Amino acid sequence: MSGINYSEKIPNNVNLSDDRTLQRALEQWQPNFINWWDEMGPEGSTDMDVYLRTAVSVDPQGWAQFGHVKMRDYRWGIFLNPGQDDRTIGFGDHKGEKAWNDVPGEYRSNLRRIIVTQGDTEPASVEQQRHLGGTAPSMYDLRNLFQINVEEGRHLWAMVYLLHKHFGRDGREEADALLQRNSGDEDNPRILAAFNEQTPDWLSFFMFTYFTDRDGKFQLCALAESSFEPLARTTKFMLTEEAHHMFVGESGISRTIQRTCQVMNELKTDDPNKLRAAGVIDLPTLQRYLNFHFSVTIDLFGADESSNAATFYSTGIKGRYEETKRDDDHILKDRTYPVLQVKDGHLVTKEVPMLNALNEVLRDDYIKDSVSGVERWNKVITKAGIDFKLRVPHKAFNRNIGALAGANVTPQGEVVSESEWRLRAGEWLPDTEDRAYVASLMRRVVEPGKFANWIAPPALGINRQAADFEYVRFS
Ligand SMILES: [Fe+2]
Ligand SMILES: [Fe+2]
Repeated sequence: MSGINYSEKIPNNVNLSDDRTLQRALEQWQPNFINWWDEMGPEGSTDMDVYLRTAVSVDPQGWAQFGHVKMRDYRWGIFLNPGQDDRTIGFGDHKGEKAWNDVPGEYRSNLRRIIVTQGDTEPASVEQQRHLGGTAPSMYDLRNLFQINVEEGRHLWAMVYLLHKHFGRDGREEADALLQRNSGDEDNPRILAAFNEQTPDWLSFFMFTYFTDRDGKFQLCALAESSFEPLARTTKFMLTEEAHHMFVGESGISRTIQRTCQVMNELKTDDPNKLRAAGVIDLPTLQRYLNFHFSVTIDLFGADESSNAATFYSTGIKGRYEETKRDDDHILKDRTYPVLQVKDGHLVTKEVPMLNALNEVLRDDYIKDSVSGVERWNKVITKAGIDFKLRVPHKAFNRNIGALAGANVTPQGEVVSESEWRLRAGEWLPDTEDRAYVASLMRRVVEPGKFANWIAPPALGINRQAADFEYVRFS
């Protein structure tokens, strides 16, 4: 035994110090996790002291304690939101029955699969973002990147806890495999395609945290409705952390827009070449990045018609977003939902059984939520007196999953020929030139209170710290 002081080293509210089986499993896994962090976590960060928040309990005062720590010493904890003893199942065939504290044998493999798929995305994003520290636009942003990275690490712990505690030996094997797959690895990639894409620059990072972490929010919200209590309670607590990740994305893009608009007004131009010469990211380039990240992310919700989605719902494993706030029968057997497809060169809707369309239902809820932040970005543009609007592309644009996979649809929702789509793809998606330009802006600026030229400072510091606060100490 390695002599871990459990409540000190691994903050938790799952009685870890009394649970010998769980201790043994975690003791075996934890050194592999630290090895993974050293090899695949934020590059060159070992000696840095980072001003991080750590969750040490689930009550409002305890979950956000701030202080400078080395990331490999971060106290990754295990937390379940407080439960209700008498919670009943809110949807599906078991509606009204008592929620499960243990895994029902017949649902074991589906539950495990859902937990593994969610768990796999957490370390994947850390891997995708591991080089970004080298080009941080400020110390403030560097700290936010690291905060997200350690919290995704904690989310991995959260899923590993469920696997270790509830799935025996195969759970332990799955927990090990979560450290063995790697983002973009040819032989052993991460499970979902978007998590094998690179996050090569900070514009991509902000788009990723706005759009793709928001996919995380919606998946977690659907799992927070689960009949399996430990999964529901774990994901509820993860959601409190996810909010900050999306804030980093939304404010990061907002500050980028603010700076671009400022230079547009100074130079009295909207010419992308002149703006690039002045070292800021022109709004059409931002739109192309937005189109890319939005379309790749909505694919994550899966095929628009899916019998797995129906099974997960009917068996009570995964609910809808805000299941309890909906006033229908929560069984959905005789309801339908419209899905899109291309027919004779046109987009048409087809009504399908709602149970099979639950991926589409969640995708549509996600789209509504992501549009609202884009409107807030547009307010920054309007406030600067500039006539330009960012728009979320049509849901059929650039899709690779389901009935719309490979359909040639413009961001405005118009079906075009394949040759036209190819010809015009450079108008809609970042091309090599855009990416090279954005990459050329990526230089490390880390003096306290200084910011790269392409991005405006934030309105407020983290935990209300001053503008020149030393968020990261380098040795
Ligand atoms: Fe996460
Ligand atoms: Fe996240």
